[in-house]
Amino acid sequence: MRAHPASAPAPAPSSGGPATEAIMLVGGKGTRLRPLTVHTPKPMVPAAGVPFLTHQLARARAAGVEHIVLATSYLAEVFEPYFGDGSALGLHLEYVTETDPLGTGGALRNVAHRLRSAPGDPVLVFNGDILTGLDIPALVATHRSSGADVSLHLTTVDDPRAFGLVPTDADGRVTAFLEKPQTPEEIVTDQINAGAYVFTRGVLDTIPAGRPVSVERETFPGLLADGAHLQGMVDATYWLDLGTPQAFVRGSADLVLGRAPSPAVPGRCGERLVLAGARVADDAKLFGGTCVAAGAVVASGAQVDGSAILAGAHIAEGAVVRDSLVGAGAHIGPRTVLDGVVVGDAAHIGADNELLPGARVWPAARIPASAIRFSPDAP
Ligand code: GTP
Repeated sequence: MRAHPASAPAPAPSSGGPATEAIMLVGGKGTRLRPLTVHTPKPMVPAAGVPFLTHQLARARAAGVEHIVLATSYLAEVFEPYFGDGSALGLHLEYVTETDPLGTGGALRNVAHRLRSAPGDPVLVFNGDILTGLDIPALVATHRSSGADVSLHLTTVDDPRAFGLVPTDADGRVTAFLEKPQTPEEIVTDQINAGAYVFTRGVLDTIPAGRPVSVERETFPGLLADGAHLQGMVDATYWLDLGTPQAFVRGSADLVLGRAPSPAVPGRCGERLVLAGARVADDAKLFGGTCVAAGAVVASGAQVDGSAILAGAHIAEGAVVRDSLVGAGAHIGPRTVLDGVVVGDAAHIGADNELLPGARVWPAARIPASAIRFSPDAP
């Protein structure tokens, strides 16, 4: 069944006000973010000192959302013990778990029965791995004023080759969903799907139930083919897909620096964020949006730049950590250098090692100390 055929009239849009309901898609396996996602679902990996999802929930709340349904699947059991009923964030949260993953569209259909909105009301949908300064009320206003069935946040990128493209006409109406371009001629726009949508509630009910559906590959192209109105809103504010370790580390640092807006950063934005219960030696240097979590230790002479040091991790004396994430309880030995590296929880890297961009150390792995003392001037 195609979603929302053109012959079926769109439900009449309701007028005015913010969208008060949202669905958060948080059930993906987060394979690109391994090893951080081996024991923790991507939205629960800490960014700027709190699980990343906290930033998205707080931003939605600030935009007037009151009720959020979390569509969970992979490691579903960890969300509710942390966020509970959502009242600490001023929200009412509900959780729906897929036994078998239903994909992004199937997940939306699977939770739609928990919404209270009328068929013509706007419902926000967020991918659970996007850090953005999107003007959420503006997306809702665009949806209402255009009378669209679905409105999509579009962002522009310098190099669109890695993305599906979403061209629009002069009125912002989506004209196509194009696969990743293979040739320069196929790059007809620099606009891409930014992972935040407003659906007219009734449209969610037309997604097929009980089977996997991709909203990007099936629902949106199907709606377009059936003549539905899909509206794009280009908002070129801060936007980052935190799907890879490098992007995740960048996003955490940008939250600490205040480049990425969030009401949930637990402290003042600046070069560093040191949470209560962390210990940092007086002569250690922290900068570039580094976050040091509770129970972590940064020892004398260590330098940490643009990195996230998770709870209970230990950075030994003279270590240099740049653009890296050090997992909970992990140990980085004296004088060891990490540059663009992800270290899994409880891993142990001995003294005088050097790990370069892209290296991923898996949870509880052990790399012994070198027999040769590391010197930055060594050939
Ligand atoms: P990768 O495996 O690294 O591609 O990450 P991912 O699994 O998160 O996939 P992707 O980035 O394409 O997912 C976009 C958003 O949809 C993320 O917030 C996911 O958590 C979510 N998502 C993806 N697949 C499912 C699913 O089957 N069910 C639910 N509930 N959410 C999903």
